[in-house]
Amino acid sequence: MSLPTLLSSASFALKRTAPKSFRTLATAVNTPPAKPEQIKKFQIYRWNPDKPAEKPHLQTYSIDLSKCGPMVLDAILKIKNELDPTLTFRRSCREGICGSCAMNIDGVNTLACLKRIEKDEKDMKIYPLPHMYIIKDLVPDMTQFYKQYKSIEPYLQAEKAPEDGREHLQSREDRKKLDGMYECILCACCSTSCPSYWWNQDEYLGPAVLMQAYRWIADSRDGKTAERLSKLQNPFSVYRCHTIFNCTKTCPKGLNPAKAIASLKMELSQA
Ligand code: SF4
Ligand code: SF4
Ligand code: FES
Repeated sequence: MSLPTLLSSASFALKRTAPKSFRTLATAVNTPPAKPEQIKKFQIYRWNPDKPAEKPHLQTYSIDLSKCGPMVLDAILKIKNELDPTLTFRRSCREGICGSCAMNIDGVNTLACLKRIEKDEKDMKIYPLPHMYIIKDLVPDMTQFYKQYKSIEPYLQAEKAPEDGREHLQSREDRKKLDGMYECILCACCSTSCPSYWWNQDEYLGPAVLMQAYRWIADSRDGKTAERLSKLQNPFSVYRCHTIFNCTKTCPKGLNPAKAIASLKMELSQA
């Protein structure tokens, strides 16, 4: 019999038959020791559109890490649930799939649910994604980003439907060409770390959207390659990328948008 099972049956037997002092002893054996308190401070960007006279500022919150999950999202959820319900941020999946918890943590654009809380003495600083209009606190306005994504028509446009009325087939080799691009969760960490995107957001599509543009150009089943390339053939949509690589460095999913943009430029030069 394993030790936990042995202890649990001993505790059950003691509860039924033993005097009170023995019962207390059995309970003490079953209760894990309390973890020591570990206070960590978080400085978080606050801005409320309903209080326009109040300037954006950092607000400091202290939480006990011994009573908190390991990720930054755990910490800000704890702050919202226990200390300050007005703190506003996006989150959904809490496992790096939805892309909604993207923010700037200690100077790096990343996903709060994938970023571990640093166990050192330093305060952690949390801002919204940089160079975006802010709706409230950590929530950026993604309207322009989604408008740009829509502009590249991010869906399969095959020349004709398969004759058997089933799936559009693709060889293993052609399918492999989409690896490293289809996994993008559109969190916008890369685009909002790109200096060219900061300054030319109206015309330059930015790394996230350009990688998706190339994802459909590289898809052997798509029949609109020429049209897709011709829409990008102008001085702004693609060519504002100066290959600085901030985008690839910051991607929390380990993708390489800068490489996709380089391949896209190659296609454009041959079109
Ligand atoms: S490439 Fe990476 S950083 Fe950029 S949107 Fe996709 S997942 Fe996010
Ligand atoms: S490589 Fe291009 S897209 Fe990526 S950060 Fe640099 S300029 Fe922006
Ligand atoms: S909550 Fe979905 S990616 Fe973080």
